[in-house]
Amino acid sequence: MPRAVTVTYAVWPTPAQVAAGAADLFTSAAITAANMRGKARIAISGGTTPKAMFALLADRAQPYFARVPWDKLELFWVDERTVPPDHKDSNYGMTKAAMLDHVPLPAAQIHRIQGELSPEAAADKYEAEIRTSFRLEGAETPGFDLALLGMGDDGHTASLFPHTEALNALGRIAVANRVEKLDTWRVTLTSPVINQARRVTFLIEGAGKRDILRDVLLGPYDPETLPSQFIRPGSGKLSFLLDAAAAAALPYDTAQPPPYIGSLELK
Ligand code: 6PG
Repeated sequence: MPRAVTVTYAVWPTPAQVAAGAADLFTSAAITAANMRGKARIAISGGTTPKAMFALLADRAQPYFARVPWDKLELFWVDERTVPPDHKDSNYGMTKAAMLDHVPLPAAQIHRIQGELSPEAAADKYEAEIRTSFRLEGAETPGFDLALLGMGDDGHTASLFPHTEALNALGRIAVANRVEKLDTWRVTLTSPVINQARRVTFLIEGAGKRDILRDVLLGPYDPETLPSQFIRPGSGKLSFLLDAAAAAALPYDTAQPPPYIGSLELK
């Protein structure tokens, strides 16, 4: 039985407004975690959607740069493509160009997945790095302060693709995942680890995501086909930041100014 959670979503008219909302959430989550635990451990996604948020966080003319506790931030990725860091498809590479090259985040606090290694070696190494960084013992698993996810138009999240082996990985923090339909390997955090984050937030934009988002949130529970449905954090803090095009098939109230807020009970 899946865990019941209440999901809340915030809808803005434009992607630029979603990026500002996401930068705000990233900043507040980092401040709260740093104040409470001395560190902010955040796992981010790649793809294209978070790029605008990274650029805002790195922009000194915006309010976020000065507020983010860069000295206390430990940055992780939810997934990576099996390419070197300077490859155009590298999630780390995208983040580096958009944000890391412009912010005072010490290199020792940047925990990238080494996509240039063999997929298994990259997953093992990343898992070991997470264990060391979180000082985990035995079967303990990490509790990120925030996991920021994207969603593909097939319902995948992180590199948890429909009907792939990683969906059923047991006792692992990160795994190599063969994605037959893309004829490639990915390295990804597992869904139990994502669900252990104190807060999980999806960033989703564009009309191309409208129907699949409706299926993920309002359709029958079938996470092998729609892996985003596996994401139900134990903290109960699950939110979606959406633009109006992606949210067009969801109910929400437009009586107040944006962001328009909606919520659903996932049973
Ligand atoms: C990746 C991801 C992946 C991504 C979605 C959405 O490495 O591709 O982390 O899960 O978040 O595919 O991607 P877009 O933001 O490009 O739509």
